Amino acid sequence: MLRGKKIVLGITGSIAAYKACLIIRGLIKAGAEVQVVITPAGKEFITPITLSALTHKPVISEFFSQRDGTWNSHVDLGLWADAMLIAPCTASTLGKMANGVADNMLITTYLSMKAPVFIAPAMDLDMYAHPSTQANMERLASFGNHFIEAESGFLASGLEGKGRMAEPEHIVAALDEFFEPKDLVGKNILLTAGPTYEKIDPVRFVGNYSSGKMGFALAEECARRGADVTLVAGPVSLKSSHPRIHRVNVESAQEMYNAAVNAFPQMDAAILCAAVADFRPESVAEEKIKRVGQTMDIHLVPNPDIAAELGMMKRSNQKLVGFALETNDEEQNAQNKLEKKNFDFIVLNSLRNEGTCFKSDENQISIISHTGRKDYEKKPKNEVARDIIDELASMK
Ligand code: PMT
Repeated sequence: MLRGKKIVLGITGSIAAYKACLIIRGLIKAGAEVQVVITPAGKEFITPITLSALTHKPVISEFFSQRDGTWNSHVDLGLWADAMLIAPCTASTLGKMANGVADNMLITTYLSMKAPVFIAPAMDLDMYAHPSTQANMERLASFGNHFIEAESGFLASGLEGKGRMAEPEHIVAALDEFFEPKDLVGKNILLTAGPTYEKIDPVRFVGNYSSGKMGFALAEECARRGADVTLVAGPVSLKSSHPRIHRVNVESAQEMYNAAVNAFPQMDAAILCAAVADFRPESVAEEKIKRVGQTMDIHLVPNPDIAAELGMMKRSNQKLVGFALETNDEEQNAQNKLEKKNFDFIVLNSLRNEGTCFKSDENQISIISHTGRKDYEKKPKNEVARDIIDELASMK
């Protein structure tokens, strides 16, 4: 939720300063406005011209503008900003911040800052591990500053990778998460995602093309907004990293049904995004089926309908959201599913819209409820997830 946010980006003298360009690009792409304040040492690593070209604003470095001698007001910057981010932040700047050594524009801006401050340290491991750096960081954390650090590796020392600046996308994501509305705190949400595989024999299955991307984006969005998420995931290669996402891996529709039915009574809402196989082979061969003859018949029997079952179990204080994946008569089919499965609303996506639905990074949806229909444009699945969760959160 960085749209419209005003960010002061402090850049210091580190080899990682070039990565500030990627941070600026990420922030601006997310809709933020960026004002760079750079230390004299920072300018040795990256030129203000590059930075001002990216931000469309003059870079602030000195107390007085070299152009006309006017005063650069750190106080005004402190009031203007919604957040200050210092990335990369050297050991020297950490020390000055921790001790109020206001000898450059970046530190005076920090000391005047009224908004939350985020720090992405960047230095070598020895400097990072030094007791004075550690003490400065502890001090700064105790002042309420937020540290954004690189994820460390798995070496025995536990310090592998420490001091290296976090990747720009990680830094932008941390800020984005900070500004995300926390309107789902205390809520438990069940999500089904991905395909189901229905075994034919030990090497073959009946399945579909679902990648899990839409369902995982929804799980991330719910967790970012404060919910505890139970993500019942079919066989997909995606990873879920948010600590509030509790993942239950399943393979078949029957396993997904068991997990969902078991979890639903504890939930405030369930969103059923999985592409569940409606049928499964009646029997599973124990050995790999050999090729004999010119044709082969597999007899299929129906799988349980998870959505219909949860629709019957639903209490008045629970919400149930379904998906409809259609190829024709979209609205009518979605309406039928809305009623039949007792959904509060249904998210319609159509395979007729190219580059959407299965596997793609974008989707185009309509939300159909008992009171009407809303159409949305094609957009990345994380933004689609936000629209869906906004709709859910707005329901009384
Ligand atoms: O995973 P991606 O690659 O990102 O693709 C996302 C998606 C296209 C799979 C997703 O956006 C989507 O449309 N999911 C629902 C697919 C589907 O099976 O739709 P349906 O119209 O057949 O089913 C209607 C609803 O009933 C769905 O909420 C489905 O999860 C649910 N259902 C269906 C059958 C069944 N046995 N149990 C169910 O719960």
